[in-house]
Amino acid sequence: MDVLNTKGRGKRVLVAGGAGFVGSHLCDALLAEGCSVVCVDSFLTGAHANIAPLENHPGFQLIRHDICEPLQLKGPLDEIYNLACAASPPRYQADPVHTMMTSVVGTRNLLSLAERHGARFLLASTSEVYGDPEVHPQPEHYRGNVNCTGPRACYDEGKRAAEALCFDLLRLNRVDTRVARIFNTYGPRMQADDGRIISNFINQALRGEPLTVYGTGEQTRSFCYVSDLVTGLIALMRLDPNPKTPVNLGNPGEFTINELAAIVQEMIPEAKGKIHRPLPQDDPQRRRPDITRAKALLGWEPKIALREGLEDTISWFRLGYEAEQRITAA
Ligand SMILES: NC(=O)c1ccc[n+]([C@@H]2O[C@H](COP(=O)([O-])OP(=O)(O)OC[C@H]3O[C@@H](n4cnc5c(N)ncnc54)[C@H](O)[C@@H]3O)[C@@H](O)[C@H]2O)c1
Repeated sequence: MDVLNTKGRGKRVLVAGGAGFVGSHLCDALLAEGCSVVCVDSFLTGAHANIAPLENHPGFQLIRHDICEPLQLKGPLDEIYNLACAASPPRYQADPVHTMMTSVVGTRNLLSLAERHGARFLLASTSEVYGDPEVHPQPEHYRGNVNCTGPRACYDEGKRAAEALCFDLLRLNRVDTRVARIFNTYGPRMQADDGRIISNFINQALRGEPLTVYGTGEQTRSFCYVSDLVTGLIALMRLDPNPKTPVNLGNPGEFTINELAAIVQEMIPEAKGKIHRPLPQDDPQRRRPDITRAKALLGWEPKIALREGLEDTISWFRLGYEAEQRITAA
């Protein structure tokens, strides 16, 4: 039996951002291992469809709430995962002040809740804390190259501030906090139109449109399948003793955007070529996690290869696309 499957039984776990892409998969996994789950979400970028199958589960509770406002909860609470934050640039830049407040004030509110309940706390931080990195691949001790006045700063600097809050409360011995630095993750339930590279490519390909490549396409990214990420998040939450250090979670396989486009075109026959658009400001040139620490501390590394994960993701998007076509035709 999987060790994780016995560790959660009987725990009450809050997942902020639980109606989002990663958060809904995390809710599934926690319920499957016997936890009861309180999903807190404002539905800013989350979708009701992501959690609709859970709503009749006796261990599942949904609270519609913006974490920028303080939250009270009755009853015991063992763990809090903070995944609440819009994650794609068009979405987090749409209201940059709210994005910054979600990371800073929202994390502060959830840390207060954790402190009151004696709950463990995990922050979903991001590889964006490394900015446009000068060190490659990125280890956790690299301090990053973030433009603190650019259009991505509301997200990058918000997460950096949230990390600082977590480590302060840990040092003060007030909350048992953990920080996961998540690299690009993909899978079913990503939003079709949220501007992330894999969902963009798949949806353009399914519609028979050219794939939009920003810049030359020679910039690189690493792509982690969502089930691998969720396993890593749970392992980090359950790790004893507290590692007292952030941990990178991502897939070290590195692909140029042109390589990714070629794979998607090969897997979706409807795809029609590529078009290039100017690179957005502060777009990182290279991204690849150094996961030495995750391997050593958690015994974790991704298991799902890019093509395998893409197959599941494409099938999921194809189902949605075909359903949409049927509705339009009716
Ligand atoms: N998916 C990735 O590639 C990736 C990479 C690095 C970090 N992360 C982090 O992981 C977390 C989840 O990302 P995702 O890809 O699932 O994004 P997502 O946008 O699908 O999910 C975020 C969820 O948080 C909710 N939310 C946003 N602001 C909120 C607020 N103020 N109060 C309550 N709920 C709020 C949204 O409605 C949504 O359901 C985010 O914190 C993100 O920064 C994700």
